[in-house]
Amino acid sequence: MKTTAQHLPYPDRFLTPKAAETYVQDEYAADSYATAIWAEQAPFVKKLLQEVHRQDPVGRHFDFACGTGRITRLTEEVFPEVDALDISAAMVEVARAAGRQARFYVGNILENHDLCAGPYGSITTFRLILNIDPPLRVPVLIELHRRLKPGGVLIFNVHGNRHSLRQPALLWNRWRHPDEAGGIKRLLNTMSRAEVEACVDAAGFRIEQVHGIGILPQTVYRWPLRSFWRGLDRWLSGLSWLKRFSIDLIFGCKKKDIGGL
Ligand SMILES: C[S@@+](CC[C@H](N)C(=O)[O-])C[C@H]1O[C@@H](n2cnc3c(N)ncnc32)[C@H](O)[C@@H]1O
Repeated sequence: MKTTAQHLPYPDRFLTPKAAETYVQDEYAADSYATAIWAEQAPFVKKLLQEVHRQDPVGRHFDFACGTGRITRLTEEVFPEVDALDISAAMVEVARAAGRQARFYVGNILENHDLCAGPYGSITTFRLILNIDPPLRVPVLIELHRRLKPGGVLIFNVHGNRHSLRQPALLWNRWRHPDEAGGIKRLLNTMSRAEVEACVDAAGFRIEQVHGIGILPQTVYRWPLRSFWRGLDRWLSGLSWLKRFSIDLIFGCKKKDIGGL
């Protein structure tokens, strides 16, 4: 049985200082695919957050599964009061070192209902919903729902739209490396928009906005003429009729105020 981080349950993958370092230095290296996608997404996310802050100037913000603080830092530019939480102390240590005014917490909201209890005007959670164990998606979203004020806003992304070129790229990878299929499947999940909608609806949210980025799969960014492919991907991402096939989808949701949730 392998014990590399890729074979651990998802919440255990980021527990070590080494995992935190890899996330910052490899996944978000200056020239990485993830960094290129985030460069395109960040202005959109900031605008959404600014709109939330304009509508609710006293609302506190919560960055859930903050990791090394990539999103927390953006939210700190908009909100005077930010709480950020992750299950991994090692990830939070990196986030705290680079943070400004945010308060950081370590723990599991599924076990501790009083942790970062809110109420918050808005919540972000990035790069979590896709990879967390599927049976935990709705319970986690319900916990976030409980922490939002009436009419509060949830912004999250799913970085593996099933109806995108990522899907054939994954199938190709699995075909080429059949013995790694288990690991690849665990690492590179996909979700359809309908699946996301079902989870969000079950947790008491209504999707109000969807924004897609990235049409070309990550592999293409490793080909020669990298900046050409990146520019082409940026151009394709701007075509409105291709948006629904974007690899990375950002969802802006409102809390539905229904009984029991
Ligand atoms: C891929 S990182 C994303 C970090 C950050 N949100 C970002 O977008 O850069 C996923 C993070 O989710 C955290 N995580 C996984 N399961 C969690 C849970 N049940 N509660 C809180 N954090 C969790 C991990 O520790 C890890 O830091």
